[in-house]
Amino acid sequence: MNVAILISGSGSNMLSLIDDMTGPHPGRVRLVLSNTPKAAGISKAVARGITAKVVDYQTYKPNISAFEQALQNQLEAHKIDLICLAGFMHILGSNFIASWKGRILNIHPSLLPKYKGLDTHQRAIDAGDYIAGCTVHEVVTELDSGRILAQGYVNILPDEDALSLAARVLVQEHLLYPKVVREFIDNLLNKISQ
Ligand code: GRF
Repeated sequence: MNVAILISGSGSNMLSLIDDMTGPHPGRVRLVLSNTPKAAGISKAVARGITAKVVDYQTYKPNISAFEQALQNQLEAHKIDLICLAGFMHILGSNFIASWKGRILNIHPSLLPKYKGLDTHQRAIDAGDYIAGCTVHEVVTELDSGRILAQGYVNILPDEDALSLAARVLVQEHLLYPKVVREFIDNLLNKISQ
């Protein structure tokens, strides 16, 4: 199964997925797409022999539909079956998401449905929470609201700050996302074979 990973930044989750999808794994990362040429993940993907393309949002704005059509063109050109968002900072429109319904995943750095959106760690600390974590979910039009597939948990330590918590949650993300994607692809392939 051909997988595309969409990034905007360092791509640490992208690397975990690339490194997991080898050998007997039924998925292969065929494409990394970034919405900005500044994404540090681009060179990491290329260094691993993965095709990386930039569809620069700055080139298309404010024409969001043209931007998302350019994304779609790359996905079709590489015969992609499944999209994994990994630090992708563009909120995809309803038409794009509708065309990928059931085949687009995201990892979010909170225990959804708590703390949708940004600054998740600081919000958990400010709320006095004892537990934080990450969630892998299907992507739907409403932000960070799709079917939850799995979650990873991290205790919030006394005197924790957002940076230290983010780093500890990221460790869990790197374990969770590959595990969920492997199971998700197995389930998709089982459905196709029935
Ligand atoms: C991570 O916290 C991830 O949960 C969120 O973006 C952050 C950076 O991810 N989606 P990465 O290092 O670019 O994979």
